[in-house]
Amino acid sequence: MNGRRIVFTSGKGGVGKSTVVANVGVELAIRGERVVLVDADIGLNNLDVALGLEKKVKYDLMEVALGKVRLKDALVRDDYIDTLYLLPSPKGIGLDKLNSTKFMKVIDELADVFDYVLIDCPAGIDGGFHRAVSAAKEAIIVTTPHISAVRDADKVCALLSTYSIKNLRLVVNRVRLDLVKKGETLTPESISRLMRVALVGVVPEDDDITLFTLANTSKRNLARRAYISLVDYIMGRTKDVYDFTQKRRWLL
Ligand SMILES: Nc1ncnc2c1ncn2[C@@H]1O[C@H](COP(=O)(O)OP(=O)(O)OP(=O)(O)O)[C@@H](O)[C@H]1O
Ligand SMILES: [Mg+2]
Repeated sequence: MNGRRIVFTSGKGGVGKSTVVANVGVELAIRGERVVLVDADIGLNNLDVALGLEKKVKYDLMEVALGKVRLKDALVRDDYIDTLYLLPSPKGIGLDKLNSTKFMKVIDELADVFDYVLIDCPAGIDGGFHRAVSAAKEAIIVTTPHISAVRDADKVCALLSTYSIKNLRLVVNRVRLDLVKKGETLTPESISRLMRVALVGVVPEDDDITLFTLANTSKRNLARRAYISLVDYIMGRTKDVYDFTQKRRWLL
């Protein structure tokens, strides 16, 4: 099997990469796709926390890459969705010692059994970025509408063109309609135009955003609607993008 390898990256930290990865993963898995979320970031508030799986984590990516642990022993299955798995990151130091070749071998192995391998990239553009991006074939750049985040995302975009990434797409997260209406923030469309990257997702600012990862199925929830549309796009089911800031909300 040849699963899709998609890296989620941003440049600037804290813009919502892990949240977007978790939600996209949940939505794909709800549809029956076999999904693994690879946490390629070190730190505390990572994917295991976003998915509420931190207590089930036994081993991590580093131990698998170094051949100390079998991949199937390190994978953590989601509590709610059978087809959703997590490969946790090491807590604390260590990941910087992992070279791209070893990391790629793990990703290759995952792509043999999963339909989607979603890689959560660390912020910044150092070794961790290189490692995560080298193993991917597609990339989703996540930014907020803030100018500093857009600037960093743009730098990452230029850098990505030096890798063999075939599909480069943009998700704008934490968008506030009130600020868009007052003209106090860049619109998702204008960010996409500025960066010359196709816009595939517009996620609203939403205090309950992490609850969605527990499969909140309320169709009225704007964030959920945004993720449904994003996943339809990723799966190639539509070329339309749901942008809640537009009068004509479905963009062609
Ligand atoms: N659409 C949203 N609305 C409100 N809060 C959000 C939204 N998206 C993410 N957040 C919150 O923003 C914070 C940062 O999100 P997250 O950890 O996903 O970012 P990140 O880009 O992965 O950060 P890092 O670079 O540190 O890995 C979290 O507290 C998360 O709950
Ligand atoms: Mg993160």
